[in-house]
Amino acid sequence: MFTLCTLFALFLGAVHSQFPRSCTTTAAFRTKTCCPLWEDGSPCGSLSGRGGCKNDVVFTSLAVGKVRQSYDDRLDWPRYYFDNTCKCFGNYSGYNCGRCKYGYYGDKCDRQNTVVRKEIRQLSFLERKRFFSYLALAKVTKSVDFVILTTGDRHHRDTYRFVDASIFDVFSWIHYYSMKPILINGTFDNSKNYAHQGPAFPGWHRLGLMFLERQIQLLTGDEDFAIPYYDWRGEKNCSICTNEFLGASNEQGFLDDNSHFAFWKSICSGFNYADAICQTAGDECQMERLHRKPGADPRVKALPSFQDVENTLKWKDFDRPPYNVTSRRSFRNALEGFLRSSDGMTLERNMHNLVHIYFGGTMSQVPISSNDPIFLLHHGFIDKIFEEWLQRYNGTPNDYPENDELGQGPDECATPYFPCYRNKDFLCSSSTLGYKYSKYQGM
Ligand SMILES: *[C@@H]1O[C@H](CO)[C@@H](O)[C@H](O)[C@H]1NC(C)=O
Ligand SMILES: *[C@@H]1O[C@H](CO)[C@@H](O)[C@H](O)[C@H]1NC(C)=O
Ligand SMILES: *[C@@H]1O[C@H](CO)[C@@H](O)[C@H](O)[C@H]1NC(C)=O
Ligand SMILES: *[C@@H]1O[C@H](CO)[C@@H](O)[C@H](O)[C@H]1NC(C)=O
Repeated sequence: MFTLCTLFALFLGAVHSQFPRSCTTTAAFRTKTCCPLWEDGSPCGSLSGRGGCKNDVVFTSLAVGKVRQSYDDRLDWPRYYFDNTCKCFGNYSGYNCGRCKYGYYGDKCDRQNTVVRKEIRQLSFLERKRFFSYLALAKVTKSVDFVILTTGDRHHRDTYRFVDASIFDVFSWIHYYSMKPILINGTFDNSKNYAHQGPAFPGWHRLGLMFLERQIQLLTGDEDFAIPYYDWRGEKNCSICTNEFLGASNEQGFLDDNSHFAFWKSICSGFNYADAICQTAGDECQMERLHRKPGADPRVKALPSFQDVENTLKWKDFDRPPYNVTSRRSFRNALEGFLRSSDGMTLERNMHNLVHIYFGGTMSQVPISSNDPIFLLHHGFIDKIFEEWLQRYNGTPNDYPENDELGQGPDECATPYFPCYRNKDFLCSSSTLGYKYSKYQGM
């Protein structure tokens, strides 16, 4: 533990602001401009034809005449912080156009690669070891590109404070931040968030996995790295909750001392602060260990079955009005797990939601669930089911509906990722995004 805490203490020296580290200057905030210089010394690599600094890359859902009395910093993301951002050309991407679009590689981003995500039990012993060591590295390596917002009074942006975080913690943070209650007219609305309970759910989480996968590829130089998934269909109990895989739990429910993630600490573990954003991010040594109690919650009798997944896939409408947790006959709502998939009518916990609850502990507290690496494997399988749906029904961005959920409009940015990726653009074949899934147990 000494080493981990010491490492983190070293990282916390510099205090900048959120998102791209180079957009954290007072000037950037004053001018609301995040157009960092690329290697050629020009903003967004414009001299090299990679991109340009534009104020039109932010997609907003605000219809003409519609006025929002809201102060939440994530609304119309990322307008509260930046109006001008880099618009990248061709295969270039990233906050300064210094990176490639997902699926493209090389200095000129002209090389395509499609990685294969496998079921974790399909990995060879060596591949599995490699996965665990990459994660360990991502957990302790400071993100060069991003810093996170850690605390402050949400009514006063002058009190915001930003700190360094590891690559894995930046990923975990993004999920956490999407779920903070939304500040509307001075009161906190707990009933909605930017990543769940609406049509953005499948694509938002798709992007999360792509983000971390690419960050790990960049960190390790291994362009073939792919996040594995966990096909939980028909499992009597979590068969990967052993120390050879994702870790057994001890009697208190903390991960076993001999497991891979035994001494990982959750970022923002006490997530339930009304006003503040996150009080523990800058204080690693006080954070909690990962907690899991698979199968212990009496509300969950079993993990979803093969039939549950098949039933989910029979709903051919991607989503249906009113596009929230009460949507019926909706693939998205069945997959997310607010709907019984067999009848498409009964509102009950199922699929994605049920699996979170099944694991208990960190995974069952959805805002902080992304701290537990088993989150990656669970969402890998959720994304595989989404991919199966896209292929079966030839899903396209046109299937993504207009809706009233904040930040979940088709042309709005998946919130709070940086740079902007539009919600509707994830309704496409995963191979165009640079990855595909292995076949496993008939799917
Ligand atoms: C906020 O309050 C104002 C004035 O009380 C009201 O007109 C407006 O509809 C409210 N906005 C929201 C989103 O509730
Ligand atoms: C993007 O990459 C593809 C495939 O490698 C290549 O054919 C294409 O020319 C590239 N596009 C641009 C605009 O560079
Ligand atoms: C499920 O597995 C966990 C350990 O992985 C164990 O503690 C628990 O008792 C098992 N539950 C059942 C119902 O077998
Ligand atoms: C879902 O949308 C309907 C229609 O807009 C609304 O009446 C209902 O309150 C919403 N439910 C939740 C939980 O947001």
